[in-house]
Amino acid sequence: MSGFFVVFEGGDGVGKSTQIDRLAEALRGEREVVVTREPGGTDLGQQLRQAIMHGGHVAPRAEALLYAADRAHHIATKVRPALDRGAVVVQDRYLDSSIVYQGGARGLGEEVERISTWATEGLVPHLTVLLDMEPGEGRLDRELDRVERETGEYKALIRQAFLDLARRDADRYVVVDAAQSIDEVAEAVRVAVDEALTKAGLPGLPAGPRGLEPWGTP
Ligand code: TMP
Repeated sequence: MSGFFVVFEGGDGVGKSTQIDRLAEALRGEREVVVTREPGGTDLGQQLRQAIMHGGHVAPRAEALLYAADRAHHIATKVRPALDRGAVVVQDRYLDSSIVYQGGARGLGEEVERISTWATEGLVPHLTVLLDMEPGEGRLDRELDRVERETGEYKALIRQAFLDLARRDADRYVVVDAAQSIDEVAEAVRVAVDEALTKAGLPGLPAGPRGLEPWGTP
C-alpha cells in the first residue's frame, strides 16, 4: 500500500462535504485523488445506503451489519485498490462512525468495532480529521421542546463519543474546530494533512497555488 488514506468524521451538518471538496481540490495535481464515502461509495453500497436510510425501521443489529457490509465491499473493491495504486483516498466517514452511532448511540457496544475491523481486514487511516462543533449552540432564543431537547442531547452524545475516540487515538486524529470560517477550517485541515503526508514519506501539501489559501487572496 503506497497511497494515503484520510477520513473525515463528525456529527451531521458540521461541513464535512465542503471540507472534503476543498482538500481534494488542493491535493489534485501530480497525484491521483479518490473522493468517496460510507455508506454508498460503491454501486452495491448505494443500494445498502437506500436500504439503511430510506426504508422503515431497521433492527439495530441488522443496521450495524448493513454498514459493515457496505464497508467491507467498499474497502475491498475501491479503497484498497486505490491505495495500492498510490492514490490519496479522501473519505467521508469510516469505522469510527459505526463505533459512535451503532456502538454508542444504539448501545451495541464494542462488538461493533470488532465487526468493522473484520470487515476491513484492519485497514486504519493515516489520518482522521474530526470536524468538531457544539451542537446547535446559540441558534435558538426560546425554550426547546421535548423532541428538540432529546435531539440536542443525542447530538451532544455523538459529539462526545467522537471526542473520546480522538483522545484515545491521538496519534491518528486531528480535531478541528468546525465553528470557524470555512477558510479557517480548510487551513487547519491543510496543515494536518501536510504533516501526516510528510510523516508517511509522501510529498506534502504546502500552502500556495495548490494549497488551501482562502479563495480570492491576492
Ligand atoms: P451522511 O452520508 O450524510 O454523513 O449520512 C450518513 C448517516 O449514517 C449519518 O447520520 C451517520 C450514519 N452512519 C452510521 O450510523 N454508521 C456508520 O457506520 C456510518 C458510516 C454512517
